Amino acid sequence: MISDLYAVVGNPIEHSLSPLIHSTFALETGQEISYEKLYAPLDQFDSTVDQFFVNGGLGLNVTAPFKNEAFKWVDELSATSTQSNAVNTIAQMDGKFVGYNTDGAGLINDLTRLGWQLAEKQVLILGAGGATQGILAPLLASGADITVANRTLAKADALRSQFPKIKILALKSIRPGWDVVIHATSSHSFETDVAVAKSVFQDSACYDLSYSQSGSTSFTEFVRTTARLVTDGLGMLVEQAALSFNIWRGVKPTTRAVLERLRSPKRQFIAGASCEKCAHVDSTYVEQDLLGNSTVKGCVDCGHIERIDGTKTVSIR
Ligand code: ATR
Repeated sequence: MISDLYAVVGNPIEHSLSPLIHSTFALETGQEISYEKLYAPLDQFDSTVDQFFVNGGLGLNVTAPFKNEAFKWVDELSATSTQSNAVNTIAQMDGKFVGYNTDGAGLINDLTRLGWQLAEKQVLILGAGGATQGILAPLLASGADITVANRTLAKADALRSQFPKIKILALKSIRPGWDVVIHATSSHSFETDVAVAKSVFQDSACYDLSYSQSGSTSFTEFVRTTARLVTDGLGMLVEQAALSFNIWRGVKPTTRAVLERLRSPKRQFIAGASCEKCAHVDSTYVEQDLLGNSTVKGCVDCGHIERIDGTKTVSIR
């Protein structure tokens, strides 16, 4: 039997965790789906997506840099995508392609999981690009008092025509005193690129929309010693995926176990095996991903790690 086909389209797309997350949701909820990565050349978003649906695809997630193009591609827009000017989920409803954006609600669900209160709290968002636009409506709806700080003040100011309740600041004028700080710039090296003093984050709960499996990003590492609480956005990734899954399949999967397994893959030690590098016995393990596939092999004594890629193993340390 051919199972229902879904995919995530982006460029680059190789490192996407979405197939793993959605396949795990499918296992948990007993849904028969397959979920793939779909690479689109930068100038061929429309034709790649057209082809995917002609070939029988049922739904798509859309990631960088195509969320605005998806917004233009769909037949109808949900309120979530209109508020954010971007689409991260495409579903077919009554013969039409409908665009949704689950990023903002995904963030709110993750902040709820973390127990971070928003109502009447002073919330600072760093950055005024697409990522910020995607989260403003649900953050305002949660009752937060929001200030957007951006390098280019005019860009933050432009957001006010759509969201008149926000306050704006230039990055260089930020002072401490925030309950929650959300990092939403596209900088990959916060400390060197974004000139904000560490003292700004004193006593704040800091959330990075970027993520890594270990939880460490350039922003989380910069604020770790000053902030009250720090987290990356892996939880938001899992939450937005669960909301997309619900739109497509009408079932809401649970998210906590998936997040925990993404953070700490299960290790299984190989009795009697010796490490290829240090030759120690009983120190070698394999790590299993969420679906029980062995993805990494390593040794706790010498720290040697290899990625198991199909039948090949690639040394990564
Ligand atoms: P995204 O969709 O990831 O939000 P974007 O729409 O291009 O990407 O927006 C990038 C955001 O990161 C902008 O707010 C940008 O600031 P400017 O409007 O001043 O360009 C911010 N950003 C990117 N690199 C930055 C840097 N080195 N320092 C400060 N802000 C930066």
